[in-house]
Amino acid sequence: MGSMQGFAPAQQPVREECAGESAVVAPPSVDMVVPWPVREWAPALTATEAIAMRAALERGNVLHFPSLDFPLNTRERRFLDACWSDGKTKNINLRADEATVRGAVGAPADLRELSALIRRYADAAERLVLALFPDYGPHLKRAGTSLRPAEIAGRSVSWRKDDTRLHVDAFPSNPLHGQRLLRVFHNVDPDAPRIWRIGEPFAHFAKRFLPKTRGMLPGQPWWMHKLHITKRPRSDYDHRMLQLHDLAKADLQYQRSAPQQTFAFAPGATWMVFSDQALHAAMRGRAMMEQTFYLDPAAIADHTHSPEAVLSRLLGRPLR
Ligand code: SIN
Ligand code: FE
Repeated sequence: MGSMQGFAPAQQPVREECAGESAVVAPPSVDMVVPWPVREWAPALTATEAIAMRAALERGNVLHFPSLDFPLNTRERRFLDACWSDGKTKNINLRADEATVRGAVGAPADLRELSALIRRYADAAERLVLALFPDYGPHLKRAGTSLRPAEIAGRSVSWRKDDTRLHVDAFPSNPLHGQRLLRVFHNVDPDAPRIWRIGEPFAHFAKRFLPKTRGMLPGQPWWMHKLHITKRPRSDYDHRMLQLHDLAKADLQYQRSAPQQTFAFAPGATWMVFSDQALHAAMRGRAMMEQTFYLDPAAIADHTHSPEAVLSRLLGRPLR
């Protein structure tokens, strides 16, 4: 199977002041994407492959399955068009406990077909995770599934919602209390690649930005919940993760000069990542499907690189 890769050794910092004002200076590069020749949604792995794949995922790498296709039939291909979106949200979403999509407009029969397509993707993504990481099974919870049928490039959104900026995923209203965010993506566009930037390992990023974050004020989790700003009380972990998300997106110098790579996920490619750990940004692409899972941290074999462990280490105390 694919070779194990970490990130490239740190390169010499680029001395921008010597490059002249108009010169574009390439940031140091990283190598976070690990390819694997998986061709089925329920592949059989050898024990060695399974251990290597899990170690790469938990280290914060992106597992890339260039040959794992999710073919659409001719009728389904019509859904790869932003005209099905209600225009209010950028994605068409299917919640795990609901039968009908949200964020889409169309005749009921069409929406039923669209929901069935998205459900089929959710089932495939779950089969994949359970086949690759059976030990995650008892700790895995299926969350939302989305079809993202609109071009990413050129959208006008606030900096905080701008996913073309490197970030780790964290949700303002949905505290996860350390539950991990595991996502399975598929480029369902037959023609165009989905272009991502992927950033440096979480520990390097956290070392830079954690000193700029603060803890919560006494009573803050309680009143934020009472005022329905959050769905449940926010934990210190959630509060720090959210600030890390915002600090990264707000820092244009970091966006330009942080260690990173640009990666093109070809049409028909699938990839999987802990999106609360791997810095990522979606730069271009027209149609993608995505499945989110919540994973109880008890399932993680090696916590060394997980956000909670890294933040606790840097703060010198457990973070809850
Ligand atoms: C994101 O998770 O930030 C966006 C991913 C994508 O739309 O490709
Ligand atoms: Fe994201």
